[in-house]
Amino acid sequence: MVYLDNNATTPIDPAVAEKMIQVLAEHFGNPSSLYPIGRKAKDLINEARAHVAAALGASKASIYFTGSGTEADNQAVLGVLDALPDKREFVTSAVEHPAVMETASYLERRGIKVTYIPVDSKGTIDLDALRAAVTPQTALVSIMHANNEIGTIQPIADVVRIAREQGALVHTDAVQSFGKIAFQADDLGVDLLTISAHKIYGPKGVGALYVRKGTPLLPFIHGGHQERGLRAGTENTAGIIGFGEAARILPLHFEADAVRLHRLADRLKSGIESAIPKIRFNGHPQNRVPTTLSYSFLGLEAEAVLLALATKGIYVSTGSACSEESDDVSHVLQAIGLRPEFARSTVRISLGRFNTDADVDEVLMVLPEVVFGLRKISAWDPEES
Ligand SMILES: Cc1ncc(COP(=O)(O)O)c(C=O)c1O
Repeated sequence: MVYLDNNATTPIDPAVAEKMIQVLAEHFGNPSSLYPIGRKAKDLINEARAHVAAALGASKASIYFTGSGTEADNQAVLGVLDALPDKREFVTSAVEHPAVMETASYLERRGIKVTYIPVDSKGTIDLDALRAAVTPQTALVSIMHANNEIGTIQPIADVVRIAREQGALVHTDAVQSFGKIAFQADDLGVDLLTISAHKIYGPKGVGALYVRKGTPLLPFIHGGHQERGLRAGTENTAGIIGFGEAARILPLHFEADAVRLHRLADRLKSGIESAIPKIRFNGHPQNRVPTTLSYSFLGLEAEAVLLALATKGIYVSTGSACSEESDDVSHVLQAIGLRPEFARSTVRISLGRFNTDADVDEVLMVLPEVVFGLRKISAWDPEES
């Protein structure tokens, strides 16, 4: 198998799996219980919090575990809007993950004014439009750090500066940047930041929200006192500890992974571009996560490419995993101005820690064959594109 869908999810690092199995087998105590096995579980959760905080460049107290990246996004957006009832405006971008997009629609249904900042053809937000949209009535600006479909990195320092001028708080969804590009949460200057374990070789079903000290925030899940009252519900102990382990080993891999994966991705990119004509690279040429490669293969349906590759054991995705089950054209590809037929031909290839040179060789051998073969049997006329 050649797994090249690391933006959808990453394989669990064996060290993480081992740690989780140990927790599941040996540490079943409820972290809220006061006797020793409960205390042990709580201590392990707090160790995990320290590892996540260290990997993010943040204090331990600023990290709250959640049930997913999606939940952390919901918590950030709804929690700030609820905590600041006098401010009735929310600003976000046209290329956010559905976890923010759908929360924004929900806010609109609740009567909040939402502005979606457009992006240019490379996926970068329009800072002039942002400046015009943020007002003293804006409670929160939520702009993602790196895009999941095309990898474009947003100018978060500029977003923070513009928001601050009007007294607005800032959230960033850093699910796709954490572990891939170097940053420290405290230095980014945001008030809230979302991450997810399963994009950094940890388990699915656990995320975290970084909350800068003093940020007004109300819980949206109600119940017990877990996570200092922000996230009720008995903790996913093994998941959280797996997240902690994935974060602990992240810095040990970071430099080597970054150099090696950048080289692999560049080799794949130039190989694809020299072997296959009539393709379009989507995303920013420089300001992007280098391991995300999005290509439109003109004349083809992305699903056909995906399924043909899958029969050869190569796993990639169309647009983004989150929109895979719907027929809608990706809102991100629409926002960068792709015509629907280009958007429908778009395939995302995303590399990760376990990819090798042999994987790149395999794709460079199989993908051109697949594209040429499918184009031959399609009704596509290359002269028309
Ligand atoms: C940018 C971004 N935000 C949020 C999420 C959601 O994270 P989770 O799968 O943990 O809910 C994803 C996952 O695809 C993502 O790519």
